[in-house]
Amino acid sequence: MEKIAITSDFNIELDKFLKSNTFSQIAVLCDENTYQHCYPLVQLPNHTVIKINAGEEFKNIETCAIVWEALTNANFDRKGLLINLGGGVIGDLGGFCARTYKRGISFINIPTTLLAQVDASIGGKLGIDFNGLKNHIGLFSIPELVIVDQIFLKSLSVEELKSGFAEVIKHHIIADKKAWKKLIETSYEKTDWSKVVNHSIEIKRKIVDSDPTEKGARKLLNFGHTVGHAVETFLLNTTNKLLHGEAVALGMICESYIASNRGMISKNELDEIIIYINSLYPKHRIKEEYKQEIIRYTLQDKKNQGNKILAVLPESIGNAKWDCEISNEDILDSIDFYNQT
Ligand code: GLY
Repeated sequence: MEKIAITSDFNIELDKFLKSNTFSQIAVLCDENTYQHCYPLVQLPNHTVIKINAGEEFKNIETCAIVWEALTNANFDRKGLLINLGGGVIGDLGGFCARTYKRGISFINIPTTLLAQVDASIGGKLGIDFNGLKNHIGLFSIPELVIVDQIFLKSLSVEELKSGFAEVIKHHIIADKKAWKKLIETSYEKTDWSKVVNHSIEIKRKIVDSDPTEKGARKLLNFGHTVGHAVETFLLNTTNKLLHGEAVALGMICESYIASNRGMISKNELDEIIIYINSLYPKHRIKEEYKQEIIRYTLQDKKNQGNKILAVLPESIGNAKWDCEISNEDILDSIDFYNQT
């Protein structure tokens, strides 16, 4: 089982981990934002800092080369440790670099965004984007430790925090009807972040433990991501970029609509999802001329089999089904529906 320390003082957990292991060298991987806002809080013995550009557009093989070069220049051997201090890009790319450098060194994640704390840093999905396709190259390998500390949430913008919150909403829809009721009745401004983070980590951890390499149940975590990922990837190359969570929020509406059309989720529950999501996220209406391109990206989804687009559809809130075949028409129709909500 993956080791996750949820703490109010990450330096204590870090110190414990370093004292119970022997590493020849330590490096901290930051981007320009976490270097400025998070790295100054870190207390560590002698170490190397590796700084990369922030943003999904740098989650690529060129940035990996910068990390591998820095490890090489600092003479890292196989007993070295890489500490990933940042959001999803840092964790995915840093983990990928660690597990491929000299056939693998240790790494831990200290996620600094809500998105990474409740989703990306847990479960060992490592990788990079390739030829415009998100997470196209990578592997499953869990970190030696994940340290989650709410202190980092203070450095996030409202938009970034809400982006992570989309994964929280997703966890409720796929796995916890009772908590969903509470969630939609509580005003977002009154969110108890410690409860929310714990609850989401618990759901994600249970699912990942039951299916670490996504042969079955782990696919549930991709709810909202078939349409969401395609929209996000397509818009990445335009001036209308979306945050990951905004794309997932859009995707959850589209995929719930497809489910409702099939007599799966009820009309009432679909309405609850739409009203709740639309109350939190800006509307990103998808232009007519973008729709065919978005379909092209859904065909590259890693969950697909052959030419079949396979999505996760909710049967009701708290219960979803994976490997549901959906058509191009379903997706186009759901985008039209989203545009009108
Ligand atoms: N973000 C989905 C997963 O970790 O499986």
